[in-house]
Amino acid sequence: MIGFVGAGKVGAQAALEVASAGLSDMALVDIVPGLAEGEALDISHRLSDAGIDVQVTGSSDYSALQGAELVVITAGLARKPGMTRMDLLSKNSSIISDVARQVAKNAPGCVILMVTNPMDVMTYVALKASGFPKQKVVGQGGVLDNSRFKYVLAKRLGVSRSSITSLVMGEHGENMIPVASHTYVGGVPLGNLLNDEEVQQAIEDTRKVAADVITKKGATIFAPGRSVARMAAAIVNDTKEVLAASTLLEGEYGLRDICIGVPVKLGSAGVEQVYELRLSDRERDWFNKGADTLREAISSLNH
Ligand code: NAI
Repeated sequence: MIGFVGAGKVGAQAALEVASAGLSDMALVDIVPGLAEGEALDISHRLSDAGIDVQVTGSSDYSALQGAELVVITAGLARKPGMTRMDLLSKNSSIISDVARQVAKNAPGCVILMVTNPMDVMTYVALKASGFPKQKVVGQGGVLDNSRFKYVLAKRLGVSRSSITSLVMGEHGENMIPVASHTYVGGVPLGNLLNDEEVQQAIEDTRKVAADVITKKGATIFAPGRSVARMAAAIVNDTKEVLAASTLLEGEYGLRDICIGVPVKLGSAGVEQVYELRLSDRERDWFNKGADTLREAISSLNH
């Protein structure tokens, strides 16, 4: 069973994606009375037409999470036009501390998949508040950022998105790293197809594109929903898929005691392996800048 804490825009969309894939029974929880139940009913009606028989329930009581193998957390405030993800730090950290303790109490064996922003810091907060081992708490950011990078590149190059092999790692925020040095188009290195200025422009476009969606429609919903569902499938089906996701580093990349996006192997145990990748000097600088930002944010919470 998969639990969802937060049945707002991203939580409901992620739940719809997971349910539509017939992945698992699901329990939605939200503090707004009736909201999770309403979303669960709406999703269930959608499933009938597709002949999918997973059970979807909604509640404002955390005991609904009992038996969950995975809990997706989207509870908390979302950014409004003009805000950065980091602007949500103090309010969301107190919400996430409380939510993580409730999850640990009601679903002690689960993997937590963090979505709430600023996601890397919230992954760290949930890890500490839940008392879970580090493998069991992972954050979604890189999968979504990579979807945006692929969109930007496919448009610029006039190729199918499916021919692009890429990843976006580092902070899920202003310092994210679309890793151009390891991006290939049908096996051809990106540097053979775009000059340095064009690559930098694609990186900038990728970093800004979410803010653009928020300015235009108020929230990002469909793409995050899909990214969460992909990670949920890797965990629940134990596929061992390697994707960029936020995890606690303990010496990898020369860093420790922060959660940040790196390539990881996902399976039923959560983060089953962390992979180290050689970055270009510029990418390494961005990675360290993102790490500094996250370290400052974490230490500001302790004061
Ligand atoms: P939303 O405002 O539509 O939904 C948030 C929901 O959380 C609301 O329904 C609210 O009632 C609920 N909530 C608040 N406190 C709660 C608590 N203590 N227990 C249970 N439920 C609680 O916001 P939206 O658009 O769904 O975004 C959710 C979060 O996800 C935001 O922090 C947003 O920035 C983040 N986000 C992260 C992405 C990522 O890639 N990591 C992508 C898109 C959004």
